Amino acid sequence: MASQKSSRSRKPELAKQKQTESRKKDHVDLVLEQGAQYSKTSGFERVDFIHNALPEISLNSVDLSTIFLNKKISFPILITGMTGGYKDAERINKGLAKTAQKYGLAFGVGSQRAMIEKPELAKTYQVRDVAPDIPLLANIGAFQLKKYSFPQIESLVHKIEADALAIHLNPLQEVIQPEGDTDFSGVLAAIGRTCDKLSVPVVVKETGAGISIDVAVKLKDAGVSYIDISGSGGTSWSKVEYLRKGLVPGFEDWGIPTAECIIQCKGLLPLIASGGIRSGIDGAKAITIGADMCGAAYPFIKALDEGDAELDKMAETFTNQMKICAYLTGSKTLEDLKKAKMRIL
Ligand SMILES: Cc1cc2nc3c(=O)[nH]c(=O)nc-3n(C[C@H](O)[C@H](O)[C@H](O)COP(=O)(O)O)c2cc1C
Repeated sequence: MASQKSSRSRKPELAKQKQTESRKKDHVDLVLEQGAQYSKTSGFERVDFIHNALPEISLNSVDLSTIFLNKKISFPILITGMTGGYKDAERINKGLAKTAQKYGLAFGVGSQRAMIEKPELAKTYQVRDVAPDIPLLANIGAFQLKKYSFPQIESLVHKIEADALAIHLNPLQEVIQPEGDTDFSGVLAAIGRTCDKLSVPVVVKETGAGISIDVAVKLKDAGVSYIDISGSGGTSWSKVEYLRKGLVPGFEDWGIPTAECIIQCKGLLPLIASGGIRSGIDGAKAITIGADMCGAAYPFIKALDEGDAELDKMAETFTNQMKICAYLTGSKTLEDLKKAKMRIL
């Protein structure tokens, strides 16, 4: 009788685990099949470098290396967190992490919620065997901080040997998702408690709807070390959820364009700029208007889906484009690129 009772009470929990795993797979499949990008832009077409016809440096001398999370990387580029928690996610995370290792980039795994619910899924996020040197970011939703204990959250970092924890804010995505969590009260306090106790830095990121200056100030006061503003203009999570099985249309283009978020938040905290960064030129523009790093998700997973050679080509093009932007503005280092002359149209 007792065992019957406990197996019955475990059923909703098991159903929830299955739901988390299949949702992560649906997300990747939908993004790859349908694109699900914003119709409005990230704003970089209104930002232009002032071309320097006398750069007085050689392309070969351009060095955009930087230190991120105490590790040296060759380019200020982060492949932002996307996946984990189901069978094929292991291949995706390892493929992306291997590319980060090869080109000297940083990499983040996707939400590790599935791994809290089912610890044996940890291997779908573990990439240190192929990427021993890269800055690696663990990932969890801010809402989950309210639900799980601090040791559970801390173990996400340790189990994958991450250098930081990325906490994602996604109220837009959750509100469109039929099974989404729609009570974001107490989230800021939970972020503050995590920052106080965690032994690695906390990065707070959006998932494509953007972080405004008001929110950034609150995050800084809570003890956050980096903000990934993840603005609109790239992957639209309300579009993804609506295409999946969302109930409320009309929010597919909701969000603050990435370029605008950078301009609002620059100087407050070290900034990562993601959301619609589709080339090394966008990435270089993001750095010049105020970011310290740029990040992208969709272009990398799309290229991986087309094969290893495509992913290599994409990483090569992206890094070369950043280097050429530096060259054509006479910027030898990342610090020089941050000061390159721009025109905001
Ligand atoms: C397939 C896919 C899955 C994603 N899953 C996560 C996630 O689990 N956690 C997270 O913080 N962000 C997630 N994101 C959001 C990205 O990290 C990024 O913030 C957003 O997509 C904007 O970047 P993009 O326009 O370059 O795609 C995901 C993005 C994609 C494309």
